[in-house]
Amino acid sequence: MQELSLRSLQRPEVIASPWSFYARLRREAPVHFDPCLQSWLLTRHADVASALADPRFSAELRHETRPGGLVAAQASMHRALRYLDRHVSFADPPTHTRLRGALAPPLRPGHVRLLERCVAVVVAEALDELDAAAAPDAIDQLAARVPLRVIQQLLGLDGVSLSTLRRWSNAWGDVVAAPGHIPTADRAEVMKAVDELVDGLCELVAEHRRDPSRASITGALVGAVADGALSEDELIANLMMLVTAGSETTANLIGSAVLELTRNAALWERLRADRTLLGAAVEELARVHPPTQYTARTALEDVEVGGQPIARGQTVVLILAAANRDPDVFGQPDVVWVERPNTHRHVAFGQGAHRCFGAPLARMETRLVLDGLLDGERPVAAGPSRWRLNANLRGLDSLPIHWTRGQVVRAGAAA
Ligand code: HEM
Repeated sequence: MQELSLRSLQRPEVIASPWSFYARLRREAPVHFDPCLQSWLLTRHADVASALADPRFSAELRHETRPGGLVAAQASMHRALRYLDRHVSFADPPTHTRLRGALAPPLRPGHVRLLERCVAVVVAEALDELDAAAAPDAIDQLAARVPLRVIQQLLGLDGVSLSTLRRWSNAWGDVVAAPGHIPTADRAEVMKAVDELVDGLCELVAEHRRDPSRASITGALVGAVADGALSEDELIANLMMLVTAGSETTANLIGSAVLELTRNAALWERLRADRTLLGAAVEELARVHPPTQYTARTALEDVEVGGQPIARGQTVVLILAAANRDPDVFGQPDVVWVERPNTHRHVAFGQGAHRCFGAPLARMETRLVLDGLLDGERPVAAGPSRWRLNANLRGLDSLPIHWTRGQVVRAGAAA
């Protein structure tokens, strides 16, 4: 099984279609030791779901202390890795509980419902741009734009252009998603953008301190620092996290959803006929095209997974995308089927203590985009699409399409 390494996901053709790679792993070696990564790869739904919920696995990265971590990292990575270690997603209790307690409340479903009107305006503007563009691209004008604009408004980042924000978000996404979280080459461009992101967020925090009346999630988190719930480093680290998690993943879901609609006329017609299915469609699209392909944990003690002993201190990579297409759980797993009775068992948003608390926002943005697109003609591919070279945060960089607004008589309201 030597050749079955997560490293092969770095090849562009595998990023474009990793499904046979995952299927082979799941079939031939569902608990597989990857010698290149020195990590176990889990691909069965049962194993991935139970590891996500198992407190014997730690989410901590500890770059600062682990061998080959911060000490060995290139100088340009030091500042970045210090912040990475302070992300809520890479913390265990009690730190995790404290950070999540400060970060999650503004994104609870009740708060997110209040944002629906604002998000609908952002979507309408993006669709206007798509409709008017000389060379419409579903990523530039829609999939990337909508979540970036929403997170820009939520964090109070109005002074930063969307293109800069996209560059920053992509760069931090490249660091966060790299296997072992240490990019192997000296990617000067990436690190320069990460430095700019940190500087930009420090300035954002300073602005909020100068003007405490500014209402934004940043303002609430600055208040949490004053109350002692967050340290200054944790504040910056988790703002970095919100920029990338809040835009990149949702952009990837919307982009993959549009691509699916260009290829799947039956799905388009089904949704067009009954928009109450949109909520279910978003879940199915997240199951089939997970924007986060995998996450990692470290065993805190000796454990057994699927009959395979895993020693304390070893790393496991939980391949969410493989679990979501496990035929033992989802019949015809590669098919987007909006009436599927058990879609809710997918793990695209994680599970357990670290489950995504941005999911209600991501779901709403994606649903509103699809709803808006359905008001026009079915999008048609207008040229080759291109995937970003990020195997974990898997998403399109470019998707040229033809799409025109139409006068649609709605059959059924949006869910
Ligand atoms: C389609 C969009 C999204 C997907 C697929 C997604 C996926 C995920 C997954 C799989 C996890 C769990 C990671 C793990 O267990 O290691 C997670 C956690 C997280 N997500 Fe999302 N996410 C999305 C959107 C968002 C948005 C919009 C935000 C914020 C605005 C967000 C913020 C977070 C945060 C802060 C965590 C860490 C939670 C914790 O560790 O307690 N995500 N997300």
